[in-house]
Parts: sequence; structure tokens; C-alpha cells
Amino acid sequence: MATPRGEFSSRFGFLMAASGSAVGLGNIWGFPTNAASNGGAAFLFVYLLLAFALAYPALMAELIIGRNARANGITALRSIASGRKSRIAASLVGFSGIVTVSLILSFYAIVSGWMIAHFLDAVARMLEMQKVADWLTTDESTRNSIFVVLFMTMTVFIITAGVRNGIEKWASRLMPSLIAILILLIIYVITLPGAADGLRAYLVPDFSRITDPALLVDAMGQAFFSLSLGVGTMLIYGSYISKDENLPVTGSLVALLDIGIAVIAGLLILPAMYAALASGVEIFDLDGNLIAGPGLIVSVLPALFSTMGGIGLFVAFAFFLLMTIASLTSSISMLEVPVAYGVEHHGFKRKWAALGIGIVITIISLIIVFNFDPLFDMVVTFTTEVSQPLLGFAFCIFVAWIWRRNDILQEIKQGCPDVENGLFWKIWPFYVKFICPVAILTVYFQ
Ligand code: TRP
Repeated sequence: MATPRGEFSSRFGFLMAASGSAVGLGNIWGFPTNAASNGGAAFLFVYLLLAFALAYPALMAELIIGRNARANGITALRSIASGRKSRIAASLVGFSGIVTVSLILSFYAIVSGWMIAHFLDAVARMLEMQKVADWLTTDESTRNSIFVVLFMTMTVFIITAGVRNGIEKWASRLMPSLIAILILLIIYVITLPGAADGLRAYLVPDFSRITDPALLVDAMGQAFFSLSLGVGTMLIYGSYISKDENLPVTGSLVALLDIGIAVIAGLLILPAMYAALASGVEIFDLDGNLIAGPGLIVSVLPALFSTMGGIGLFVAFAFFLLMTIASLTSSISMLEVPVAYGVEHHGFKRKWAALGIGIVITIISLIIVFNFDPLFDMVVTFTTEVSQPLLGFAFCIFVAWIWRRNDILQEIKQGCPDVENGLFWKIWPFYVKFICPVAILTVYFQ
């Protein structure tokens, strides 16, 4: 406990860091394809509803627990527990969060590695290095391992520098660039032939799908993954917010940024897919569904870019740069969870904790790379569909049923003295107490 804790220097710094965590592959890749295969704007509609009604309250729960304890997940949950049993449960939930987020990072790093490889492919082709470009786009274990190691090295490098000089500094540089690149790409792609069909697929609702349980499950999973919930990521970022900050407002800005960028990303991905269709690229799989898995990003879109001639190189460059940035600002938030625990609980130096834990996660990633078919989907499903919702549920229980209501109020009042009279305090406690846990379990058992 000897090292002083970090703190974000400003609201802007926190917003960039937290929205950087939230905005990732889940927004730019997951959300648009989920929407396209689930009735377009009908999914969008359900998603917006769930994101504001369920994910935002859960996000607030994590931010408040974190800022109150100013500590890593395990210590923070234990600090609100009241008896021996709830303290044991706190350790268990905190620890499961650390394991889950480390596993999420281990598959995230593989996909992010593909993004760097495709980014460098565009560079190689600009330099007319065809052999290098071919190697970069061939999906095989050596290439994948090299880029996992590279991506994890970048993540460890940023985390080593700490909260202000690492996370905040890099997020504040990268997030504005991400938004700028995204908007430029949309402006270009929307003018392509066929793009309008993509907009239609995205924005015209097929309301017959709205009662489909699969749509609900997908929308909730998407919202939880996108807001980085359930595993202590937002808790740890919350623990670095200043006590003067207005939490309900800051939290809603993070949710708005995340949801906004997901919705905007849909304006890029779906028009791009239909533009690809218009230039002869197959965008449907054998069952007639839109290709949504890895094939979308690493084959459909590159095929589109290569039909564009010279400018396609720049579009590919910008697109994969966008994906790499989105991944990196998310991966640092994942690594911070176990690192903060190692530093605060075991007294490790930040540098050694980041390096040691980074190496362990890289090794797990490499095991997945070399056993891709049996392991990859299994790890994704277990962490995002089983573990994350259950832990999200547990966080709600801790805040609403175990933590004393008055203590919560005192915590939020710092930075938001009038909270008691506002809408937030009228609705939120009830929500996390009843609606969120019931909704999470209902959707989970679907
Ligand atoms: N939210 C990020 C995305 O949309 C990924 C992410 C970061 C995440 N931290 C997380 C997902 C913690 C689950 C848990 O890509």
C-alpha cells in the first residue's frame, strides 16, 4: 500500500480513458453486425433501451464502488461488505472479475493483433512490398503470435507509465484521433455505390424481430461488453476519479459516448458491407446471414478496399488504424484491473506487476493461438456470455443489497451535493436493487 494511488487529472482525462475502455472492437465490429443480423433499427431500438435502462445503472454501480474505496476491485468490494460471509463473497467476486478480464484480454489481444497486421499490410502495399503484405494477411500461427506479443507489449508499455502518464495521456491522444478517423471514413464510404442499401439495412426497422428472445440476449450481452461491465474495469477507473467530480453526470457522458460511437460505427460498417456487395464481394454466409465473425473484418472489408484502387490503400490504412486504436484504449483498461490488484494487494512495483501479468496473459493468448479452434470460441463464450453477466449481477447485489444506502448517498454527494433531490437518486437505487438483477438473470436464463 506504500505507493500513492494515481488519479485522473481532469474530467476530460477520465472521459477519454473511460470511453476509451468502452469504445472498442465491441462498438465498431460487434454492434453494427449484431444490428444487421437482428432486424436493423429494431435492434438499435432495443439496444438503446437496454443500454440506458440497464447498462448505465450498472456502470454507475461500478464507478461509485470504485471511487468510494479508492482501491482495486477486491479491496473495494470487501470494504462495503458487512459480515464475514459477504466479505468472502466480495473476495470471490473480485477475484473472478480479475480472472475473467484477464481471459477477455487474452482473446482480445489475438483479434487486436490481426488489426495491427492488416494495418501494416496497408503500409507494406504502399511501399510496394508485396511479399511482406502477403505474409501479413495470411492467417497462420507464427504471424498471429508475433502480433499478439506486439500488441501486449504496447499495452504493458502504457500501463507501466501509470494512470496519468500512461492511461490518461494515451487515451487523450488516441480517442480524439479515433473519432476523427471514424467520421472521415463514414463520409467517404457513404458516397460509394451500394452504400445506401447498407444504410437501409441498418436504419429501417424490422419490428417483427423485436419479440425474439435472441435479440434481447444479444442486445444485453452487447451492452454489457461494450460498457466494459462486470469485471471491475469501470470500478478501477472509478477509483481514479477525483472526489470533486459529479459521478451521475460523468457516468452518463461515458455511456453516451460509448453508445453514440457504436451507433455511428454502424453508419460505417453496414454501408461498407453493402458497397462491397455492389462490387461483387460475398457478404452473406451459406445460410443467407450477413457475415459477422472474423470474416467480416479480415476478409470482406479488405476485399472492398482492394476494389477501390489506390485510394483503397489509404482507406485500409485508416480503417485498421482506427481498429488498433480502439483495441488499445480498451486493452489497457483490462490490464489495469489485475495490475492494480497486484500493486495494492501484494505491494508489487507497477512496472513489475504490469510486466509479469502481461507475460502471463500473453502466454494464455499464445496457447489459444496454437489451439484456436477448440479454445477461441470457448473462451469468448465463457467470459462474455457466462461470467460477465453473472458478475454484473453480483455487482448490483453488492451495491443495492449489501452496501448501506446512506453510505452510497454520502459517496455520490461528494461532487454532486444536490443528488438527493434529483432524478438520479429517485430512480437509480430502485433500479440496481430490483430491475437490474431481475433483468440480468431473466436474459441470462434465456
Ligand atoms: N468495451 C470494450 C469493447 O467494446 C472491451 C472491453 C474493455 C471490455 N474492458 C472490458 C469488455 C471489460 C468486457 C469487460 O470492445
